[in-house]
Amino acid sequence: MDALAQTKQGIGTAHGKVILIGEHAVVYNMPAIALPFTAATVSVSIQPCTGESYIDSAYYTGPLASSEQLNHLYQMIQAVCTYLETSADGLYFTIDSSLPAERGVGSSAAVASATLRALLDYFDAELDEASFTHFVSISENMVHGQASGIDTEVIFQQSPIYFTKDQPPETLDLQLSGYLITADTGVTGSTKEAVADIQQLLIDYPAKTLEAIQKLGQLANQAKEVILSGNIKQLGQILSNSHLQLKQLTVSSPELDQLVFTALQAGALGAKLTGSGRGGCMIALAATEAEAQQIADALQQAGATQTWINSLGDSTDDNLY
Ligand code: PMV
Repeated sequence: MDALAQTKQGIGTAHGKVILIGEHAVVYNMPAIALPFTAATVSVSIQPCTGESYIDSAYYTGPLASSEQLNHLYQMIQAVCTYLETSADGLYFTIDSSLPAERGVGSSAAVASATLRALLDYFDAELDEASFTHFVSISENMVHGQASGIDTEVIFQQSPIYFTKDQPPETLDLQLSGYLITADTGVTGSTKEAVADIQQLLIDYPAKTLEAIQKLGQLANQAKEVILSGNIKQLGQILSNSHLQLKQLTVSSPELDQLVFTALQAGALGAKLTGSGRGGCMIALAATEAEAQQIADALQQAGATQTWINSLGDSTDDNLY
């Protein structure tokens, strides 16, 4: 191996996302609002190796082609290498992530995006946004079953978005005086199963299921209005209402309900599950940083394995969104 090959490497990073409102309904063309979740990130590096490609990660370590858990990523890597007319062998991937996996904060889309960015860096190649999204969707569609594309879209964004499937996203200027607490139940959820179960509910109980989906869409539109008018109290109520609709769609869980209840008891303005549910994370709103800290402490005491607090816009030092 010559000196150049030895030092050759590719690096890619990506952040996750938090769905403020509209998860699941967004699969059925209802609007949703998502925020980039920059408090936790994924970083992927690629170095040359001999023989078949290898992956080193918290989810799986071993030959890339043999991983069942990361087959979605393998499929994307193969498609990208075919497109770039290069071999998918001889690549050593290292994934470092502070985003918890399978918890509704966009880990799979972030891993796919960071891997794609690392491949482009490694092979000194470029893609336009549509092609980038196409490749990330190869992985995301395998993970989500019937993905709306919201996770893939928010990975590109530095600001909150109002998103409707197959339409260009609208950037939202979030300048609310308040804080968002995200808490992890520590329980993994399966997006694919949750999405498929709602599809089945639509067959078994069409009227009730459609009503909940449409209600979620209306709540997302109301959330957009109160965000633009800066009313965080009303936003809290809208989030709590949307949790009830998500419960109706069977995607909550005892752990999520417990954390939502705890947050409200601790003074949150509103709380709900975020992402596909059945485990994963929940979010809560607080008016002040001190209240957010109190709520986060209560959530940890109630069993949350991790909590994050982010400003929702108009404080200066930790403007994460
Ligand atoms: O996989 P998660 O938990 O990030 O959820 C994605 C959001 C869903 O609405 C449940 C699915 C989708 O593709 O929109």
